[in-house]
Amino acid sequence: MPSVEGLGARKAALQMLDAVLRRGQTLDAAAAHERKLSPADHGLAIAIAGETLRRIPDLDDLIDSATRNRLADDSKARTVLRLALAQKIGLGTPDHALVATALPLVDGGPRRLVHGVLGTLLRRGIPELAAPRLPGDVEARWETAWGARVVVAARRQMAARPALDLTFADDAEAHAYANADGATSLASRNVRLPSSSVSELAGFGEGRWWVQDLAAALPARLIENGGEVLDLCAAPGGKTMQLAAAGHHVTSVDASGSRLERLRENLDRTHLNADLVEADALTWKPNRQFDAILLDAPCSATGTFRRHPEVLYRARPRIIADNAELQAKLLTRAIGWLKPGGALVYAVCSLEPEEGEQIIADFLRGNPDFAVAPPQPGELPDFVTPTAEGCVRILPGLLEDVGGLDGFFIARLVRRG
Ligand SMILES: C[S@@+](CC[C@H](N)C(=O)[O-])C[C@H]1O[C@@H](n2cnc3c(N)ncnc32)[C@H](O)[C@@H]1O
Repeated sequence: MPSVEGLGARKAALQMLDAVLRRGQTLDAAAAHERKLSPADHGLAIAIAGETLRRIPDLDDLIDSATRNRLADDSKARTVLRLALAQKIGLGTPDHALVATALPLVDGGPRRLVHGVLGTLLRRGIPELAAPRLPGDVEARWETAWGARVVVAARRQMAARPALDLTFADDAEAHAYANADGATSLASRNVRLPSSSVSELAGFGEGRWWVQDLAAALPARLIENGGEVLDLCAAPGGKTMQLAAAGHHVTSVDASGSRLERLRENLDRTHLNADLVEADALTWKPNRQFDAILLDAPCSATGTFRRHPEVLYRARPRIIADNAELQAKLLTRAIGWLKPGGALVYAVCSLEPEEGEQIIADFLRGNPDFAVAPPQPGELPDFVTPTAEGCVRILPGLLEDVGGLDGFFIARLVRRG
């Protein structure tokens, strides 16, 4: 068979989608397995897989509307069609290239059917899908938890390119940087840029800033009277760097050696310091108590769906329940390591109440000597309004006109006086 230009990237995209949808891998992990491609093809394969994952329910409706032979959900033919249509919608790939690279992917399969469906849809014209539907189970869950308006906002955010947020160690530097063309600042020490290649931005090599969604930068702002601070579940270290830059003495614990290596590299690049400990927080015991603890617990990460659309396919109810069990255990353990008068900030980048509101409500029911300490005026940027319980809940739709935020839940706990 003569080689078709761009076929390698499409084959790799197909493998990535299979790894994500059938084996529950992250797109990053799936992409790391596809090592044989040129950097350009590797980038294209990731872009195609990502554009597909943003739109699967709508792509499936289009596919089903063009054939009476319903294709199985996990069939290769359906995945190839999803991938081809996503290129048309998300990347503007010309029709002839779509067809030429799709058909060889179903060699030995229903090639004529795929050709027929693709031809029908391309002749009809493919809609733009500016607000693609999320997976049905996720929409149902979020509608129950947050209401229909949040679901609609999440759909819009799924199609939009998220902005790039940088956190600066130094506020004056952030100010100077924010005055550059195209940049804005939504909070102190924050600069927001239109998406671009990170390592090409000024100041990366000198370590003046690190990439951190503004929502992810909120929890560390709630640690004020620090001193000795424990950053539990710390890698790759966005929050450790914030805490160290604020002048605290930071101990950073994480169970993953490879992620801690990235934390070490980040600290070296930014010329900041922290004591690093590789340990499972469920068995580790500190040899002292802390003035403040930040617990950025492992979670379903559904709040990061704009950059990682596959999280919505991985976050099955069983996974959310398992996470909630781990989060409750971590919180109960860590709270015992606070000095009298200390505060623990609990955070998750999840849009599931089971991993946020419910963890704190259950904890307070079992530990009536603790209470939520709401953010005080000036601690968080003005656009953050605490909930009735004094926690912080960031939902899709907030600051949408300037690029939106990741979904997050944050609560600060203190012992009642
Ligand atoms: C949400 S990420 C942390 C992000 C980090 N705080 C930051 O700002 O860059 C959760 C981290 O928890 C770690 N982790 C998961 N289970 C753990 C455990 N039992 N003990 C310690 N760390 C754990 C994971 O390795 C992962 O790095």
